[in-house]
Amino acid sequence: MRGASLQSRRRFLAGSAIVAAGAWWPCRAFAADAVKIGLILPLTGPFASTGRQTEAAVRLYMQKNGDTVAGRKVELIVRDDTGLAPETTKRIAQDLIVQEKIAILAGFGLTPLAFATAPVATEAKVAMVVMCAGTSVIPQRSPFIVRSGFTIPQTTAPIADWAAKSKIRKVVTMVTDFAPGAESEKTFLKRFVDAGGTVSESLRTPLRNPDYAPFLQRAKDAKPDALFVFVPSGEGTAVLKQFAERGLKEAGISLIGPGDVLDDDILEAIGRPALGMITSHHYSAAHPSPENKAYVDGFMKANNGMRPNFMSVGGYDGTHLIYEALKKTGGATDGEKLVEAMKGMAWTSPRGPMSIDPATRDVVQNVYIRKCELVDGKPYNVEFDKVENFKDPGV
Ligand code: PHB
Repeated sequence: MRGASLQSRRRFLAGSAIVAAGAWWPCRAFAADAVKIGLILPLTGPFASTGRQTEAAVRLYMQKNGDTVAGRKVELIVRDDTGLAPETTKRIAQDLIVQEKIAILAGFGLTPLAFATAPVATEAKVAMVVMCAGTSVIPQRSPFIVRSGFTIPQTTAPIADWAAKSKIRKVVTMVTDFAPGAESEKTFLKRFVDAGGTVSESLRTPLRNPDYAPFLQRAKDAKPDALFVFVPSGEGTAVLKQFAERGLKEAGISLIGPGDVLDDDILEAIGRPALGMITSHHYSAAHPSPENKAYVDGFMKANNGMRPNFMSVGGYDGTHLIYEALKKTGGATDGEKLVEAMKGMAWTSPRGPMSIDPATRDVVQNVYIRKCELVDGKPYNVEFDKVENFKDPGV
């Protein structure tokens, strides 16, 4: 034991010299006794709700399943990357690997942050569980990435197909101007237009400090049957406030989109303007299953009544993946072994059945069509149809 720790200290010092020389990864030679998970999330800034939800879910999983797996203690190290600076996320990941000797990277609230960190996982050969970010290409950026959340085309395509089959003929799209928004717009456009629909205008709102009012006015003036919206989790309150104030609903325009805009974290705050809206998504707090009931009850009890949203299940299931992979490897944390163990894994999540596609390391799951309705006096996205075992269709 003493010998081992002396040896790892020597290795660490040698590693530090390498860090100074610019190549930083070899110092992660020996794992400490505990398996450390480095969870990087936006815990402050405009996307703090994603961080808050995901961290709460990871902690809930650990609380329910204990902090020892395959005879090794699991330790969580949480870092706030503020959500907006990819270089910060990358630097935090490097620090966690070099200084804290974490064995697994996890979290990643937004696509640019996952993109920036992917080369770090590849160089250091560390498994990277993307719990939140949704752009299709993310797992292709590193063979060490496995995704536990969702993909943007996966959650967008079903609402495009649903809209084409309903009475909706003419749509205006409004998306946030960054990779996931562009991908959501492209997915909707392709599927809806291929099925005979018309998209008369495509609007892009800024990622930083957006003011939705002028865009919604423009959408109203175009007189579509529906407005398709993708905004990142947390932004829905501002969109729906303006949607109501500008009278789009009264003008006969319905709001559709993937479920990010009617995220469970903010649905009660949005209130009445959300009622009647149809969205497609992989998770609703109202999903009717015993697993989800237990999840929602446990989550709310542990977090002062906070309702779990779709980001939270990415965290919960990502932690499940890590635990089950560690069991399979007998506690070994070698990145290649962990990723291999995660491939093809299947289980029942609070969201329903899900698995990891062994070919793409991406999530396969049901995507539900939901209508926002009052349940016991509170708004919920109530599922009424689904696309089963849906793989990322790409863009
Ligand atoms: C992303 O950056 O990939 C992202 C962020 C928030 C969402 C969806 C996707 O709600």
